[in-house]
Amino acid sequence: SAIRQLSTGKADFKLPLAFVFDIDGVLIRGGAVLPQAREAMHILYQGADRPHFPLCFLTNGGGVTETTKAAELSHWLRVPVHESQVVLSHTPFRQLAEQYSQRPVLVAGRKQTADVALNYGFESAVTTCELAAAFPHSVPFSLSVDGQAKPELPREGIGTADKPIEAVMLFTDPKEWYLDLQIIHDIITSGGVMGRPPSQEHLGRVRLLFSNPDLLWSNEHPTGRFGQGAFRSALEALHSEVIGAPLANYKVYGKPNPEPYVLVEELLAKQAGLQQESTFGTIVAIGDNPKSDIAGATAAGRPWVSALVRTGVFQGGDNDRQHPADLVVEDVLQAVTTALDACK
Ligand code: G3P
Ligand code: MG
Repeated sequence: SAIRQLSTGKADFKLPLAFVFDIDGVLIRGGAVLPQAREAMHILYQGADRPHFPLCFLTNGGGVTETTKAAELSHWLRVPVHESQVVLSHTPFRQLAEQYSQRPVLVAGRKQTADVALNYGFESAVTTCELAAAFPHSVPFSLSVDGQAKPELPREGIGTADKPIEAVMLFTDPKEWYLDLQIIHDIITSGGVMGRPPSQEHLGRVRLLFSNPDLLWSNEHPTGRFGQGAFRSALEALHSEVIGAPLANYKVYGKPNPEPYVLVEELLAKQAGLQQESTFGTIVAIGDNPKSDIAGATAAGRPWVSALVRTGVFQGGDNDRQHPADLVVEDVLQAVTTALDACK
């Protein structure tokens, strides 16, 4: 099928080449590293400390710092990966840290979200769990916060009338949907103050930032799993049912939106010692999710070329109908060898 796609002339590979790898569904599935991923990296690194072509990892996942993810990738793929090769769903949030460094913000997400927020420079960030623990009666059905516990003042009074929360940021797929839906809804409808009733004047005051639009993503389970996009959908539905108005003042980062592509182009250009990304002949974006990886690379335009693998979310026929890739291959190894062979 790779050959058939190539013969359509859509996938046009030109030197100098660069490679951009999605992670879930391309390199790993849940806890398992795909053997084709190790082989592809072996070809690109050829035993050296650095890849022979500029190479980045671009994922809508996160919850750890870029440094930690680089170490994880090095371990999984058995090649040295540096933090400057990694763009996570929340990496674009780093640019907002200066503006919000001392301002109260609420962060939600799995794994080490609180540490990542602090690492980026959000010094007055609280997590949804911390806020829920300070207002235990706000989440009576929570599995992780004791709804009967004695209420305590939240850290530094963040989320009270003294220090209203100014922005809510979802760093990853949520940790506990019920708790996150309730607390985020409370904050965005009350102008950032826990316990203050929703009011028209406060709607849209708190900025709401999502890092990942994926409705579905791929792990070991045979079919796609709900991602952060599914959570947003649930929050939007609840908001419009409870408030009678659509969600306001929100922005979604993450593939297929442009922000991470701009960051990746900068990192690739630095690796190559180029002044501008436009001097690449082709940037090959290898992904499993047509709605994020393929739509994003297509929207990024030249010199991006998209390659869709069959090891993750995409389980369709010849190509995706809504977001057709430039090239459809079995796996990441076939994507890499196809691009390299075309440039011989
Ligand atoms: O939560 C992770 C997910 O939505 C996608 O990860 O690596 O396939 O972009 P990835
Ligand atoms: Mg993926």
